[in-house]
Amino acid sequence: MNENIPQLSSYDEPALDAAFSGLFEEVKSAWPLRSNEEIESFRLHWLGRKQGRLKLISDAWLKSAPAEARKPLGIRFNELKVQITNTLDGSLSVQDSSISLGITEALAHMPGAVIPEGKDHLLAEIRKERRRIAIAKGAGEIDITLPGPARAPGIEHPLLKTMNQIVEVFHHLGYSTALGPQVESDFYNFEALNFPPNHPARDTQDTLLVAGQQAKPSRDRLLMRTHTSPVQIRTMVAEGPPIRIVVPGKVHRNDAADATHSPIFHQVEGLCVDTNITFSDLKGTLDHAMKELFGPAVKTRFFPSFFPFTEPSADVQVSCIFCAGKGCRKCKNSGWIELLGCGMVDPAVFAAVDEQRVALGKPAAYDTTKISGFAFGMGVERIAMILHGVSEIGQFYSGDMRFLEQFA
Ligand code: PHE
Repeated sequence: MNENIPQLSSYDEPALDAAFSGLFEEVKSAWPLRSNEEIESFRLHWLGRKQGRLKLISDAWLKSAPAEARKPLGIRFNELKVQITNTLDGSLSVQDSSISLGITEALAHMPGAVIPEGKDHLLAEIRKERRRIAIAKGAGEIDITLPGPARAPGIEHPLLKTMNQIVEVFHHLGYSTALGPQVESDFYNFEALNFPPNHPARDTQDTLLVAGQQAKPSRDRLLMRTHTSPVQIRTMVAEGPPIRIVVPGKVHRNDAADATHSPIFHQVEGLCVDTNITFSDLKGTLDHAMKELFGPAVKTRFFPSFFPFTEPSADVQVSCIFCAGKGCRKCKNSGWIELLGCGMVDPAVFAAVDEQRVALGKPAAYDTTKISGFAFGMGVERIAMILHGVSEIGQFYSGDMRFLEQFA
């Protein structure tokens, strides 16, 4: 029952468009096919092997076409074929689930449309149909109607979180944040902090040196800072007293990594310099800070220690937060956990600061007969491990989502 295919009068693009547009219209007007009979007769009409229109078109137009017209003809021929098979596939899938064509089809053609209540059983069909339309429009296999992958909101890394927690305790006491470079000079990292060149005190901080510095005077040689204490010097060289700063930051030591050590780790430093600052102020400040961090029940005690840049110096211990001081495996049965170093700023540090200030054309500002201060420094990893019961320092750096997600 196929009508004959007319002869093509010309093979130029407008002539081809005109010839095909009627065919496209014909296919379009057949949609939707409402029964198995309609589907079968549509299939025979277009795709029948002997008398199907596609076959006839191919015979009449493609076979006799001159070489240069093959491509534009072929493109249009294939588009027509796709439209025909899409019409069939779409009708079949709707037919399969014997769904009322009207709603499915209408919704499928409105990609943003909300599925009405009570019609959600049509969802799969509508999606399939939308995909068919999308593919026909050239969108490939992407279903633009599917919801996108959900992205969980980011969280602070547990180390940053702990560092911010510590810093915040001191912000509440009126301290402000100061920062300094990780590549530091020997002067700021050691000399001004009363570690003379070649002094054995330097051996306590196995240092990563920047290569090729030998030609420079010792104090100008660059290294990776081994602690945040150089920022004490930088701040006092830049400003006179009073000073109250906290210094969070990354530090580097040539240490072998093990369960509790990493060659790169983090510290929070503190410095308070003013008139009449005493060891009692240091004790009161750190006792308060430890109670803020670990809870009001913790006790602190100060043990004699040594740092070149503080005198006297102390190690601060807190009563074990795991056993409340009774003695357990975590505190090696002592009831105490050692947490940080501190002390009163050594007069030699103030002297080095003033010397540097004068060298830079600034007035001396740290007269040790009037000015005193205290400093403290703590390891962020160690505190985070205690707060969260982490036993391997490496977990903080592994990027393992199963570990990190626990802090969300
Ligand atoms: N900078 C010292 C260290 O890294 C800690 C410290 C800071 C000690 C300030 C006393 C005062 O070991």
